[in-house]
Amino acid sequence: MSKIAIYPGSFDPITNGHVDVIRRAACLFDKVIVAVLSNVDKQNMFTVSERLALIKASTADIPRLEYDSFDGLLVDYAAQKKVTAIVRGLRVVSDFDYEFQMAMTNRQIAPQLETVFLMTDAKYSFLSSSLVRQLAQFHGTINQFVPGVVAQALEKKFRG
Ligand code: PNS
Repeated sequence: MSKIAIYPGSFDPITNGHVDVIRRAACLFDKVIVAVLSNVDKQNMFTVSERLALIKASTADIPRLEYDSFDGLLVDYAAQKKVTAIVRGLRVVSDFDYEFQMAMTNRQIAPQLETVFLMTDAKYSFLSSSLVRQLAQFHGTINQFVPGVVAQALEKKFRG
């Protein structure tokens, strides 16, 4: 049976930390579905299609990836896709509370679905999409934090 995982997230926008997790997950599973949450309630900087395009461009060299978006419950989407695992990245200990809550809630609803945590490279341990958005907004340097296409897209958003 092939082992398929979902790597879900907001990816607003994708950072080098996300790419690092995707690269690690791709080594462990037969297929990884990178799935963008299309939450209409949340104010996002990039649209779902923009976020997906940036993810695709940033991970073009990584094999066995699929790209998608979803709304509603993650466990329902996972059942629909017949996946065995959810992948989440852990950066620092403070991530654990929220991730633990989510993983345990999802386990209550879907006991057969495992959440697998992958630790990001230490050099990305402080990195987040919101921090990158703030830096870009005030014209800070972001090139070392995000793939080139993302840096260009952010610069375009805040040009002028
Ligand atoms: O990148 P993020 O914003 O940390 O990702 C959070 C995400 C998308 C994994 C989480 O919000 C989610 O799974 N949302 C879908 C709705 C859902 O299933 N909520 C219950 C989780 S316990």
